[in-house]
Amino acid sequence: MRIIGLAGSPRQGGNSELLLDALLAGAESRGAEVEKYTLNRLSIRGCQACYACAKTGRCKQRDDMDRLLPALLAAKVWVFASPVYWWGPSAQLKLALDRMFPFCHPPLLGRVQGKQAVLITASEDKPAAAAPHLRGMMREAMNYLGVEWAGELLVQAYKKGEVKNNPAALAKARKLGQKLALGSGL
Ligand SMILES: Cc1cc2nc3c(=O)[nH]c(=O)nc-3n(C[C@H](O)[C@H](O)[C@H](O)COP(=O)(O)O)c2cc1C
Repeated sequence: MRIIGLAGSPRQGGNSELLLDALLAGAESRGAEVEKYTLNRLSIRGCQACYACAKTGRCKQRDDMDRLLPALLAAKVWVFASPVYWWGPSAQLKLALDRMFPFCHPPLLGRVQGKQAVLITASEDKPAAAAPHLRGMMREAMNYLGVEWAGELLVQAYKKGEVKNNPAALAKARKLGQKLALGSGL
């Protein structure tokens, strides 16, 4: 079982990243192979809407998506971790998601169907108020790709690293990682 985590926050050691790390550690403890990408450190340009990928299966742009897309294809589970910014994802996550457009077309569409996705969010406000749009967007996007929704962890936390004071949330993240590694989510 291979699990890939995308850390979408620009804050190193931020809340969503700490939750992602806990999930990945839980998964690893149950034998999963885990891999983490910090999107803020990658060079990813915005989708240019040229639709070349729809015709050829490959984006015209040469940047770090050249290694992220194969890594996503190689994993069974995708874990997206993002702060809530303006009720939506971080710009870093949105850039990567837009560049996953090759997955919307054959032949790659068939290769992502049946994978699983998980969302982790951190927000200043309570998740019920802050995260429904981000959650809805990611659920719709994964549903469109035929990727199964395997879990979510939406946590209230504001200052950098504040989630360290929330052992229950970190334990939930670890537990979810363990479940995913054993082939089950939610
Ligand atoms: C540009 C920006 C926009 C934000 N927008 C929201 C928001 O809409 N709702 C909210 O509850 N918190 C918002 N926040 C607060 C962050 O979601 C919060 O600090 C979170 O813990 C950041 O996660 P991180 O530590 O993983 O970066 C915003 C923060 C920034 C910098």
